[in-house]
Amino acid sequence: MTASLSFDPNSIRADFPLLQQQVNGQQLVYLDNSSTTQKPEAVIDAICNYYRCDNANVHRGSYSLSDRATCRFELARLRVQQFLNAQHQEEIIWTRGTTEGINLVAQCYGGMVLKEGDVVLVSTMEHHANIVPWQMIAARQGATLKAIPVTDHGEIDIEAFDSLLKENRVKIVSCAHVCNSLGTVNPIETIISMAHAAGAVVMIDGAQGVSHWQVDVQALDADFYAFSGHKMFGPTGIGAVYGKKELLDAMPPFMGGGEMIETVTFAQTTYNQLPFKFEAGTPNIAGAIGLSAAIDYLNELDRTATAEHEASLLAYTQERARDCQGLIPVSKAQHIAGVFSFNIEGAHPSDVGMLLDQQAIAVRTGQHCAQPVMDQFCIPGTVRASFSIYNTHAEVDRLFEAIEKVKMFI
Ligand code: ALA
Repeated sequence: MTASLSFDPNSIRADFPLLQQQVNGQQLVYLDNSSTTQKPEAVIDAICNYYRCDNANVHRGSYSLSDRATCRFELARLRVQQFLNAQHQEEIIWTRGTTEGINLVAQCYGGMVLKEGDVVLVSTMEHHANIVPWQMIAARQGATLKAIPVTDHGEIDIEAFDSLLKENRVKIVSCAHVCNSLGTVNPIETIISMAHAAGAVVMIDGAQGVSHWQVDVQALDADFYAFSGHKMFGPTGIGAVYGKKELLDAMPPFMGGGEMIETVTFAQTTYNQLPFKFEAGTPNIAGAIGLSAAIDYLNELDRTATAEHEASLLAYTQERARDCQGLIPVSKAQHIAGVFSFNIEGAHPSDVGMLLDQQAIAVRTGQHCAQPVMDQFCIPGTVRASFSIYNTHAEVDRLFEAIEKVKMFI
């Protein structure tokens, strides 16, 4: 099988300096894109150029350099607004990443609405970042966190979800767009409309969603949508959470400090308008500019073609896996994006990962910060190969050659 016709990953590999790296004398095969993606030269340059030419604090200075930094920073916010098709620029709140976005919503929205006896629903397949913040706020408010069951195929059980909505006073539903450990693409349109019909507000963990395809928060009718820059070719330490304006307006601030205030006296403090109310302290200016460059980079690509390419890599991997004796795929979900999670009979996933690393194949192994779903499948973890736009079918071949060698050691 060869690369899909509409998109040639080899044409963009040169944009990513790290992909040129050799490990143990072999070309690196980077298959840990769900952890973080590699960065194109355009993003690296944007960050360097910001520090070389435009560095100053934002929203504070009265000099032109600071104005320029502020303009670039706010232009980055506009880019994110357009990227998610949010209605208003002030609906985009900068965060350090998805985890902070979910914590912000849990603390500020959850802390505002949850009362004793209320229920928050998350699915069993969530990343810890979409479980623990809700557990913390539910405990503080006297509410309960319940799990939406996942089927043996690795999909959200929609009938069980319906029952949970009917049987409980559900105030918040929070769910991954794409499951980080299994790759399942959740039917978030259905989940959002069912939750809304039951009077609940929906938070989407978009960490694994935005890199694969165009997200439209208005079409989805998501109330909150969080993502991280580093999983979509941007830098680490920057991300954003989208929230509907009326919800964000009603919420109290997340952290106190400079920038999030309007007036401060020892008697009383009043808060700034959106989005600054949620942005205490000097923000990650370079990160925002780097993320904006990543969006520009993605916008230059044909995203239908890149999504088809990733799907074709996954289909090819699944096809090769069928002929690979002793390889056990973990997910049987119908709709999977960019992730192949598996085990090798008789081997611990960490040992497999180590043996693959010796052959210059980078994958993540373990529980993937998703212990509840690993417990459900009664496995200590998985080996996870996760794909991005720059991976090739030849790299999948390298993975399977390496797996054959791993099997000789176990
Ligand atoms: N959440 C990231 C992953 O799934 C780190 O690997």
